[in-house]
Amino acid sequence: MGANQALALAVANVHVSFTNLAGFSALAQPYNLRFAYTPAVIVLPTITHHLIDAVLCATESSVIVQAKSGRHSYASFSSGGQNGAMVIDLESFQQITVGARDVAQIGGGVRLGDMALGIFNQSQRALPHGTCLGVGIGGHASYGGFGLDSRMWGITMDTIEGLDVVLANGSFIHATSTAYPDIYYALRGAADSFGIITTFYLQTLAAPASVVNWQYSIPGRFVSAATATAVFTHIQAFARNASVLHRKLGLGVYLDGSGFSVSGTYIGNLTTFNTEVAPELLRGLPTPSSSSIRSVDWIESLTLLASSQPLQHATSRTSYTLHDDFFAKSIGVLSSAPLIAATLTSYFTYIIQNGVNAPDPWFSIRNLYGGPDSQIIVPSPSSAYSDCSALWMLQHYGYTGNTGSPYLPASLTFVNGLNAAITNVMSSTTFVGYLNYVDPSLTTAQAHTLYYGSTTYAKLLSTKHVVDPGKVFSNPQFIGN
Ligand SMILES: Cc1cc2nc3c(=O)[nH]c(=O)nc-3n(C[C@H](O)[C@H](O)[C@H](O)COP(=O)(O)OP(=O)(O)OC[C@H]3O[C@@H](n4cnc5c(N)ncnc54)[C@H](O)[C@@H]3O)c2cc1C
Ligand SMILES: *[C@@H]1O[C@H](CO)[C@@H](O)[C@H](O)[C@H]1NC(C)=O
Ligand SMILES: *[C@@H]1O[C@H](CO)[C@@H](O)[C@H](O)[C@H]1NC(C)=O
Ligand SMILES: *[C@@H]1O[C@H](CO)[C@@H](O)[C@H](O)[C@H]1NC(C)=O
Ligand SMILES: *[C@@H]1O[C@H](CO)[C@@H](O)[C@H](O)[C@H]1NC(C)=O
Repeated sequence: MGANQALALAVANVHVSFTNLAGFSALAQPYNLRFAYTPAVIVLPTITHHLIDAVLCATESSVIVQAKSGRHSYASFSSGGQNGAMVIDLESFQQITVGARDVAQIGGGVRLGDMALGIFNQSQRALPHGTCLGVGIGGHASYGGFGLDSRMWGITMDTIEGLDVVLANGSFIHATSTAYPDIYYALRGAADSFGIITTFYLQTLAAPASVVNWQYSIPGRFVSAATATAVFTHIQAFARNASVLHRKLGLGVYLDGSGFSVSGTYIGNLTTFNTEVAPELLRGLPTPSSSSIRSVDWIESLTLLASSQPLQHATSRTSYTLHDDFFAKSIGVLSSAPLIAATLTSYFTYIIQNGVNAPDPWFSIRNLYGGPDSQIIVPSPSSAYSDCSALWMLQHYGYTGNTGSPYLPASLTFVNGLNAAITNVMSSTTFVGYLNYVDPSLTTAQAHTLYYGSTTYAKLLSTKHVVDPGKVFSNPQFIGN
């Protein structure tokens, strides 16, 4: 970033922060402390015009640009994914308005908790989204947005109707399926390479009057791989059983160094859950060591799923203090090739041998994505998102938390081993990866294959050549790298 460009931004009245200014490091801090890159400059636009000036300035000075929304990127791509980027922080873009046809206009810097509370408070409306309410709409909706309500309503991306976006040449456009369709396609799955979304137009849904939040702890996980395999095999059979699975049911299986549980939500009442869902789910499983089944209202359901963290967040970047230090990998298991007993045995054997004494804490979640009646729309070929045919989305996550203690290299080995215990056994099976769990350990080519596949990637590349020929919007895995 040269002095002339800095001056130009100052003249344009854009609030910027440089490395030598007080408060820079707090502003630069990502959620994942493991990838703490140093941007060349952090731009804090308050109006769209500032954002346009900043992008044009970067284009002229050949500085790469990345947008920052809730800054929860696993790889800190919103800090550039490398040193020296221009970070455009959208913390002032906080619009939350439910308008005509119940379409919500959500500013590019809004966090999920504020969005959920705002649209419910205004009009008793809701959107499907993830459980961690400090995540930003910017990354979440652009790369998916999976929650326990997604089997009923789809992922957050499915609710997008239109996007206001600033492009590399400084134009500010409204992209929809009919206006700028190629850009609209690219923004849903690869926004980081195409522009900065200032406003998301999302089709809201009526919030349910009540939700059953349910959870069962299953004992004996470390007893034997055979027992754990039998438990999971039954849960998978349940998850594929059309006579019992309804879109109202959201389900995830959670494992860590000390426990094994199955939990989720049911958009219905306690009686139906207890009579129509629970008996088949629990049939043949060890008696749960504990359980919690509660009928609650919509906002309380979201609060419980967020481990009782508040829904409302300080919008100022520097007053949000939650962090972690982690490495994660994802595996999307396709509905056409569910997990087989040999894979599960390999996986649980690995956990029994290595999980109790793993170098750092870890967890694994397998969320039920597909299964009978799942309403996750198959947006491809209409978007660059390609995970829609997954049955399970698995995530393996090793962490040290917000303690300042460094993440041990041995944890990388352990987390990679969790993935390998599955992929090695099903070596001829195709797996997908979830863009919102972006994995910085992949090479650019691996990332493009895993996240897009060759047809989608070729389409994205041709749009990139037209819309951002100077490769202004870039990070280590960007389209065209
Ligand atoms: C603790 C935790 C819990 C999570 N839980 C879930 C979950 O339940 N379900 C789920 O689906 N995912 C979950 N995620 C993953 C989450 O959805 C992604 O990390 C998401 O991309 C974060 O979005 P963000 O805006 O907070 O991140 P940021 O780091 O701000 O941005 C992520 C990426 O999007 C780009 N970007 C951001 N805003 C814009 C914009 N306005 N225009 C263009 N590009 C933009 C950035 O440049 C960056 O590449 C979780 C993540 C964490 C850390
Ligand atoms: C809820 O709505 C009231 C008025 O309708 C408003 O004063 C309040 O700020 C809103 N709260 C949130 C969190 O949106
Ligand atoms: C599907 O669920 C029904 C109960 O609704 C049960 O009788 C049947 O055995 C289940 N099928 C499988 C394959 O588990
Ligand atoms: C529960 O939901 C079912 C199905 O929608 C309905 O028939 C039943 O009356 C409800 N029961 C109660 C107690 O609300
Ligand atoms: C900027 O790029 C968009 C998308 O390619 C294009 O439609 C528009 O005409 C361009 N604007 C200018 C001023 O070149």
